[in-house]
Amino acid sequence: MPQQAQTLPRIGFIGAGRVAKGLARGMAQAGQQVVAAASRSPQSAAQLAAMVAGCRAHARAQEVVDASDLVFITVPDDVIAAVCASVAWREGMAAVHCSGATEVATLESAAAAGAQIGGFHPLQLFADPEVALAGLPGCTIAIEAEAPLLPRLEQLAQALRCRSIRLPPGCRARYHAAAHYAAGFVITLLGQAVELWQSFGVGREDTMRALLPLLRGTVASVERSGLVQSLAGTYSRGDIGTLEKHLADLERAGPEALHLYCELALRSIPLGLERGGYDEQRAEEMRALLLRARGS
Ligand SMILES: NC(=O)c1ccc[n+]([C@@H]2O[C@H](COP(=O)([O-])OP(=O)(O)OC[C@H]3O[C@@H](n4cnc5c(N)ncnc54)[C@H](OP(=O)(O)O)[C@@H]3O)[C@@H](O)[C@H]2O)c1
Repeated sequence: MPQQAQTLPRIGFIGAGRVAKGLARGMAQAGQQVVAAASRSPQSAAQLAAMVAGCRAHARAQEVVDASDLVFITVPDDVIAAVCASVAWREGMAAVHCSGATEVATLESAAAAGAQIGGFHPLQLFADPEVALAGLPGCTIAIEAEAPLLPRLEQLAQALRCRSIRLPPGCRARYHAAAHYAAGFVITLLGQAVELWQSFGVGREDTMRALLPLLRGTVASVERSGLVQSLAGTYSRGDIGTLEKHLADLERAGPEALHLYCELALRSIPLGLERGGYDEQRAEEMRALLLRARGS
């Protein structure tokens, strides 16, 4: 349910980059009042303001703070603290950053002035603003704040048709590191497959064409059946003969390829066991082979 107009906070953005443009447009489409934007360059602020009806581009960050009740500091992580400290905050307003790994305490200068502070991290890739905007509904926003800001940010996530999770203080680096396993590290793993297939003459493009449907099928299966039931392949069945063939070949491919394979395979065994594909004795035999190949 959209909130009543008179209860809507006036939302501002400092830093008009990819996340600000995606979120500001999403919020405006969800009936929120995005009223102000400033950035390092006037062009970026003007671009954001042109995308959102009722939003005004300002030359200075302070003008955004003065015009808003809830300010998103959407600048690169390394300058969040400095940008926050460069403006004068008011009692009762809110300062929120969108960084995954940066602790909310980075906004302490705003808190010292009586503002509420929080984190609002959308688990979504904001490379192309159009793609990010279309992908917002259904994604999760990790929120860290105390009441009364916490329920307000949760309502905002809901208005964006996103799910939300609450992050306790002090966990952001680990939370953010783990998120890489569903994003950048998937690409790293595909890169590893490309390298291995290149060694027998299949190029990057053909490898990607071959592996992307496999990846899509895996994602669809995890969505439908969950983590454990979707595990397929050698480590779902406990095929020791296949495992031995993999290890013998990867030893020839080189220590780095072998090491990565062993680490991932060792992490797959508990899931295979949970799935009931083999018993503990088989798991132990597999672990022993993998640990020996890894050299520990
Ligand atoms: N990109 C993602 O996929 C993603 C996803 C979730 C969260 N985040 C987080 O969202 C935040 C913003 O990331 P982003 O990807 O949107 O970065 P971005 O596209 O590089 O945008 C950052 C914006 O901040 C502006 N800026 C830089 N220094 C500034 C300063 N001192 N004062 C005012 N504005 C300044 C830049 O200015 P100009 O354009 O004016 O030069 C730029 O528009 C980061 O905390 C990031 O960790 C990013």
